[in-house]
Amino acid sequence: MRVAETVERTKDHIARCVRISNLLAFWTMTTPEVELKTIFARHLYWAVHSAERLRARLAELAVDVDPRTVPLQTASDDLMACESALTTPEKIRALYGVALMNLKTSMADHANRTDALADEPTIRVLNDLTASAASAAEEADTAFRSVREIFPDMSTSSSSNEGHLPARIPVRPARDRRFSETASNPNLTDTVKLLHVFYTDLELSTIEACSRMIVEFPAMPWQFVVDMARQCWDEARHADAFRTRLLQLGGSLGTYAISYALWDMADGENVDVSLAVQQRVGEWIGVDGAIWQAQQLRFGGDEVTSELFDFVALDEITHVAFGNKWLRSVAGSEAQIKLVHDLALHKRSACGKSVDGPLTFPYNDWACERGGFTEGERDELRARFLKYGSQFRELDEAQERERVAASR
Ligand SMILES: [Fe+2]
Ligand SMILES: [Fe+2]
Repeated sequence: MRVAETVERTKDHIARCVRISNLLAFWTMTTPEVELKTIFARHLYWAVHSAERLRARLAELAVDVDPRTVPLQTASDDLMACESALTTPEKIRALYGVALMNLKTSMADHANRTDALADEPTIRVLNDLTASAASAAEEADTAFRSVREIFPDMSTSSSSNEGHLPARIPVRPARDRRFSETASNPNLTDTVKLLHVFYTDLELSTIEACSRMIVEFPAMPWQFVVDMARQCWDEARHADAFRTRLLQLGGSLGTYAISYALWDMADGENVDVSLAVQQRVGEWIGVDGAIWQAQQLRFGGDEVTSELFDFVALDEITHVAFGNKWLRSVAGSEAQIKLVHDLALHKRSACGKSVDGPLTFPYNDWACERGGFTEGERDELRARFLKYGSQFRELDEAQERERVAASR
């Protein structure tokens, strides 16, 4: 296959991957069944990461493209069928049964027709993507089968009280019938409550928030999409870990109230405010919260859950860094960054999130530095913690261990 032909075929794969990633971004928001929400978030990352690998190969072939604007070279009936699918079974069939299979077949055919002596790198990329597309289809099939057992009537009725949502940004993201804002089970342990809140209100909600940013701000650079997609994957892994652990500890989904606060806080805002609310402030508080929870759980003897929080906290630092990186690139001035930072704090306190009252966990300067806060910004964050009487000073570990043990 000549260079010009492989370039055109690669562009078509890129355009398809990007179109699939956009579709999955909508579906993380509009699909109610939470087990599928995380599958879609994982595959959103797969689609963006695949487009990125193909883009990099094109650059090696001296062709630079912006994946967000590459036109499809071939007919797209299969993708249009995905975009108009309303019910969950229709979505699964249209994407994993048809569109993804067409993409996989096209990439395999491209690889087969490529001369290994002349263009081995293209074959390697295509073979990797073909294999991972097959794995994605298998993952979706397994998750769909388990969800169908929970909602046997899902072919005829939605598992959400709001009904089927089209592939547009919804007023609020879909949640399936197991969840409500008023659920309360008095018999839950503190750890199960904690895992439930992290699962629904932080991890799932952040998948939806990142997905919304991908589709709501099409003028943002491609690398922004790459970062948001990576965050979707991280949050999907966190969500699945917390869900699995909460089930292991005897909890069940829907036994604790859910909140839409994260969604509502950035609703209708510009990209700078969204980044400040979600990544710069929200994830920063999430880092300190996760570090604190890991320590508390370890002192309480729950090493397994503690280790999950250790790893989650480190991922969240990267998400803060994404927020700071993109906020600096779009804000235009330090004054604007300060403005949106304060607005984000205000929005969080208006939604009942803990920034105005005394924070119950310590400030971690090293994490803020890795998260991309400047020295001046860190001084201000530290002052805020001190002002509200937080436990900024180093904790006495032995004393803390005894206190946690005594409270259980
Ligand atoms: Fe997370
Ligand atoms: Fe995060």
